[in-house]
Formats: sequence, structure tokens, C-alpha cells
Amino acid sequence: MPVVLGIETSCDETGVGIVADGVLLGDALATSMDEHARFGGVVPEIAARAHLHAVTPMVRHALDRAGIGFGDIDAVAATAGPGLATAVQVGLAAGKAYALALGVPLYGVHHLAGHAAVDTLEHGPLPDRCVALIVSGGHTSLLLLGDLARDPVIHLGDTADDAAGEAFDKVARLLGLPYPGGPAIDRIAQDGNPDAITFPRPMTSPHDPPYQFSFSGLKTAVARWIEKHGDQPVPVADVAASFQEAVADTLTQKAMAACRDHHADTLLLVGGVAANSRVRHLAEQRAANAGVRLRVPSPRLCTDNGAMIAAVGDLLVRANVAPDRLDLSADPSAVLRGALLKDHSV
Ligand code: KG4
Ligand code: ZN
Repeated sequence: MPVVLGIETSCDETGVGIVADGVLLGDALATSMDEHARFGGVVPEIAARAHLHAVTPMVRHALDRAGIGFGDIDAVAATAGPGLATAVQVGLAAGKAYALALGVPLYGVHHLAGHAAVDTLEHGPLPDRCVALIVSGGHTSLLLLGDLARDPVIHLGDTADDAAGEAFDKVARLLGLPYPGGPAIDRIAQDGNPDAITFPRPMTSPHDPPYQFSFSGLKTAVARWIEKHGDQPVPVADVAASFQEAVADTLTQKAMAACRDHHADTLLLVGGVAANSRVRHLAEQRAANAGVRLRVPSPRLCTDNGAMIAAVGDLLVRANVAPDRLDLSADPSAVLRGALLKDHSV
């Protein structure tokens, strides 16, 4: 079975994974998260430099963990977008260098396809058709997926402004919690009351587009609430829990509506925000009530990692999809149309 090396460097995680025939053989992850914490968000140049330092050692770690050598690699997959321009460049350049040096094909893959594909490593092949909710720091999309390696991805709805993860990060900042905000809110919300404050559920009125999202107004609603109660200490746990509840409720309502309206019996919930304990729990409850099968990767595979990119490469190789040329360029703002960043058929 062909062995695929996957490289992910779109944000602040340097991830490397090795996959063959739907099985994760080994992976390794380095993060520059701590270096960004004092700036309250990812600084692209710092991330890019950290990738440069980490990518080769991570490839060696992943190979060691898989118990294989360079000569065993049959194909290389690297994130070619979307992401921070300078960060994506490092991983894609590394991918090209390994492909050239090893004499194997290169696949420049779409980061978000990786978020979806990673679930195959834990739960087997995806069904012929499913609804996917991708919720990350940069994207929030409801999609209709067919064969991920071959079929175009259909967008049912995306976010009009902030992504769900971005809203977590910005609200955390308002609450004085550390970066990244999602895990910090998830932790502190355990001690709060989700019903303490009723924050808006954006885009959920009958006149709104059913599958579209908007989280910027929700973040503003939290800011206004904090301002209005400025004379008292902020009940951080209650605000965090109530905000988290509004996000989880909105995401899962819309995902369930998409499954119902499109007669999909499987919902795939992926991306960094899918690591959130309340989002996972509410999705489980609502999917069970609707008779929908929920697939969610374990939290460590929801946030950015190398296994997800190797998983896409593995699907592409097994589907006999033609690889990319080595002059492939990165696209930091690529829209998700399919597993490959550049569709060869057009
Ligand atoms: O998918 P991801 O690792 O990177 C992107 O592709 O953007 O997602 C990162 C986002 C960040 O905004 C982070 O705060 C959020 O996912 N996140 C979470 C949790 N873990 C990570 N949000 C809520 N709860 C979590 N436990
Ligand atoms: Zn991501």
C-alpha cells in the first residue's frame, strides 16, 4: 500500500503525518503557540520562522514513530492553502523538496479537506454522501460532501464575517483569557451557568439564510454586556458558558437543519471548534434525536495536525488522482472546491 507523507503549516502548528491505506502510521506536531500568546494572536512571520525550524525535525519524528525511512515514502501531500501566506509557503516548499529528492509525486491539498479527511483515520471511509460542518479559526462552513477525492464540494452556507473559532478567540480576549481562546473558554465554562445570559443565536430567524453563519454580532453582544456591567466584576465563567452555549446551539441547529433538508443520514463535525466539549455534546444529543449518525474526530485530530493532510493525500493516491506539478503555487485564500487546491480538470 502506498505510504503518504503529509505536511501541514498553514497557521501556528507544524504537523507531519504518515498514512497508508486509511491508517495513521505515525505523526508529530510542533507549535509556536506560546510565541504568539503575548501578542494575543498568531504573528505570521513568527509562525513562518518556527515552521522553518520545526518541519525537518517533525518529518524525522513522524518517520521514527511510524518505524519507516525516507525510502518507504510513495507520495507527499502538503497544505497549499488556505492559511497565512508565509506559513503555507514553508510547508509547501518542504513538500516539494521531499517529493523532488525522493522522486515521488506531490499533492498540494486544501487545508479544510484535511479537516474532513482526518476522520477516516478513526472511523473508516466516509459514506457516499454526508453533510459536513467545518468549524475552525478561519472558516465556518456547512458542506455537502460526496467522494472527497473525486467530487466537487458543495457549499450550503459559510460565515458572512467571523469564523466560530475567531469568535472564541476574540471573546476570550474580552474576558482576559489567554490565547488560544477556544480551549480557555471551554475550560472555564465548566464552572459557569450556560443559562446565566441569553446571548443572540445569529442568523436563526425564519427569514435568515438557513445555513449561513455570522459570529461578529455575537462577539459584539458579549462586549456590550461586559461594558454594561462594567461597575461590577465580570462573572467570567458565566459569560464564557453563555457565549459557548450560543455558539454550540447555533452551529448544531443549522447542521441538523442541513441534514434534514438534504436527507443526509451522516453529519461530519470537524475543525478546531469541534474539539469543544459543549459543541460535541450538543451535536451528539441533537444527532441522536434526529436519527443522524454523528462522526467527530478525537479532539487532538480536530485542531490542525499533519495526519489530516496525509489522510487527504492517501485518499487522492488511492483514487488514482493525478498529482500536481512542482511549480504549484500556494493560495492563501483558496475556497474549498475539492481535496486538491488546484482542480486539474478545469
Ligand atoms: O482548525 P484549527 O486548529 O485551525 C484553523 O484551521 O483555523 O482551529 C483553531 C481554532 C481556534 O480559533 C481555537 O480557539 C479553536 O479552534 N479551538 C476551540 C477549542 N480548541 C480549539 N474552540 C472552542 N473550544 C475548544 N476546545
Ligand atoms: Zn485548521
